[in-house]
Parts: sequence; C-alpha cells; structure tokens
Amino acid sequence: MDISIRDAVADDFEIVVALDDGSKKDDKPGYWRGIFEHYVYENNPDRIFLVAEKAGTVVGFIVGEVRAWEFGSPPCGWVFAVTVTPEVRELGIGMRMFDEIGRRLKKMGVTTLRTMVDLDNKRALSFFRGIGMRSGRYIELEKHLLND
Ligand SMILES: CC(C)(COP(=O)(O)OP(=O)(O)OC[C@H]1O[C@@H](n2cnc3c(N)ncnc32)[C@H](O)[C@@H]1OP(=O)(O)O)[C@@H](O)C(=O)NCCC(=O)NCCS
Repeated sequence: MDISIRDAVADDFEIVVALDDGSKKDDKPGYWRGIFEHYVYENNPDRIFLVAEKAGTVVGFIVGEVRAWEFGSPPCGWVFAVTVTPEVRELGIGMRMFDEIGRRLKKMGVTTLRTMVDLDNKRALSFFRGIGMRSGRYIELEKHLLND
C-alpha cells in the first residue's frame, strides 16, 4: 500500500478533527485549534505532528513531543494522540507513523518513548503491544476528590 508520512500543515485541520471520532472532548475543534497552534504553526522543533496520506488523502495522524520527565528520569518522547481512519486500520499505518515519530524523537536525543492508554481500549492496547510498547517503571495513581 502506498502510504506517505509527512508533517501536518494548516490545511489538515478539518480532516484531523473529523478523524478524531472517538473523542470525549467537549469542544473538539477548539481542542485541535490549540494543538495546531502549538504543534504545527509554532514550528517548535521539540513538537511533532505527523499525518499519514494514502493516495493524497489524510488517513491518520500522530502527535508527540520531547517531554521533560519527573522522578529523576531523563526527558522522553511522549506520544499523546494516534488515530487511523477505520477503513484502513490493521494495515500497518499506525505502526508506520509510530516508527517515524520514534525515529525523529531519537534524533532529538531521547531514548524512551512513552504514552498512556485507557485500560478499556483493548484495540489500542493490542496495537501498542504489537509495536513493542511495554509497561514502564512508573504507574499512574489517582484518587477521586469527593464533594464536601
Ligand atoms: C490504535 C490504532 C491507531 C492502530 O492503528 P492501525 O493502523 O490499525 O495499526 P497497525 O495496522 O499499524 O497495527 C500494528 C500492530 O498492532 C497490532 N494491532 C493493531 N490493531 C489491532 C487489533 N485491532 N487487534 C489486535 N492487534 C492489533 C498488531 O500487532 C499489528 O501488527 P500486525 O498487523 O503485524 O499484526 C487504530 O486502531 C485507531 O485509530 N484506533 C482509534 C484511536 C485510538 O484508540 N488511539 C490510541 C489511543 S490514543
């Protein structure tokens, strides 16, 4: 399959909003406007927003950055969004985008890639496992703050 991966540009905004179908965000366009602002328009070399194109149509995107890390751990590559349009899933596009963002992040000097995933998102868990991501040495802890 002929897939190319390139940096996102301003014209990709509408398609990215449309591809983000599983989102629980209240204001999806507003959320992505903010992300485009910081990850596309600002040209910050630490921030990466890539899209995958098939026959000239955007079919997926991935967003990540070099992120300072807490707990005495050095900065790492952090991927916080990856989506492929349902019609072309399980064809290797997600993996291609991950490989490319990993290659770029490594060039920037990081040696570890991190992400976070909902335990109920079995497809995403299978995907991350399939591309070699494993549980890291830090776990998320949380507590519900109840009303007084
Ligand atoms: C997760 C997602 C990005 C995967 O993209 P994709 O292009 O379908 O994934 P790939 O085809 O590159 O899969 C790579 C590997 O992941 C695993 N994998 C992917 N989808 C899988 C599934 N549905 N079931 C089991 N394994 C799966 C496989 O090991 C696969 O390798 P293989 O084809 O050689 O067996 C896509 O399913 C998606 O957009 N989901 C909705 C958004 C989402 O949940 N994003 C992640 C959380 S932010």
